Amino acid sequence: MITVKTIEEIAIMREAGKITRDVLNYLKENLKAGMTTKELDRLAYEFIVNAGATPSFLGYHGYPATTCISIDEQVVHGIPNNERIIKEGEIVSIDVGAIYKGYHGDAARSFHVGDLSPEKAKLVKVTEECFFKAIENLKDGTPLGNIGYNIQQHAESNGFSVVRALVGHGIGKNMHEDPSVPNVGKKGTGIRLKAGNTIAIEPMINMGTFKVDFLSDGWTVLTQDRKPSAHYENTVLITEEGVEILTL
Ligand code: MF3
Ligand code: CO
Repeated sequence: MITVKTIEEIAIMREAGKITRDVLNYLKENLKAGMTTKELDRLAYEFIVNAGATPSFLGYHGYPATTCISIDEQVVHGIPNNERIIKEGEIVSIDVGAIYKGYHGDAARSFHVGDLSPEKAKLVKVTEECFFKAIENLKDGTPLGNIGYNIQQHAESNGFSVVRALVGHGIGKNMHEDPSVPNVGKKGTGIRLKAGNTIAIEPMINMGTFKVDFLSDGWTVLTQDRKPSAHYENTVLITEEGVEILTL
């Protein structure tokens, strides 16, 4: 069931979204080569709790951390740990979620650590652009397939590929609600989104093959060819005229 949020629910989701955005900005400021992924995760935990919210990933199907931190060939769901030291030249993708007064915010960014190679920098830029292409003409009545169409078009015309094994999702009282929001698709297909729907749009874009492997830790997703990947996600509200990005 795809829920239509009330004005009151939307007001709370704006707050949840702001906290989620603020965590990512805080992590960006603190991210530097030499720190471990666990140190960053700890900062995220403290920030969310201090904001009066709850980390939504922690304990989700047994997930052991506040954030997912996925570096280079890791696509998503990398588990923060004390061994992995962040290095210059890496793409560090951080995905985080917060629950505020019972409602979820979910967002992800791919950050540069020091200088990236030109190809990696382009991948990060194009991935972010894919999100903005996806929302360009998005509003009440838009077929869901247009989102994936626009993402795929932009990624592939830049020589990159779109991960298919994972998708965006509806969001609200639960982190994952209907509908699934694929990052590939055909224009004019699928259900029509309605004003009051809230969805997380999250392109995962690879430099090489779109195919992925699932690591034996039960979480980490890697590119099959071990080439780099980037991720960019926001929680958005569909309105009559367009969208409101709740986590930006
Ligand atoms: N934020 C991810 C998503 O967009 C979910 C992370 S899985 C978790 O769907 F277990 F870490 F929560
Ligand atoms: Co998500």
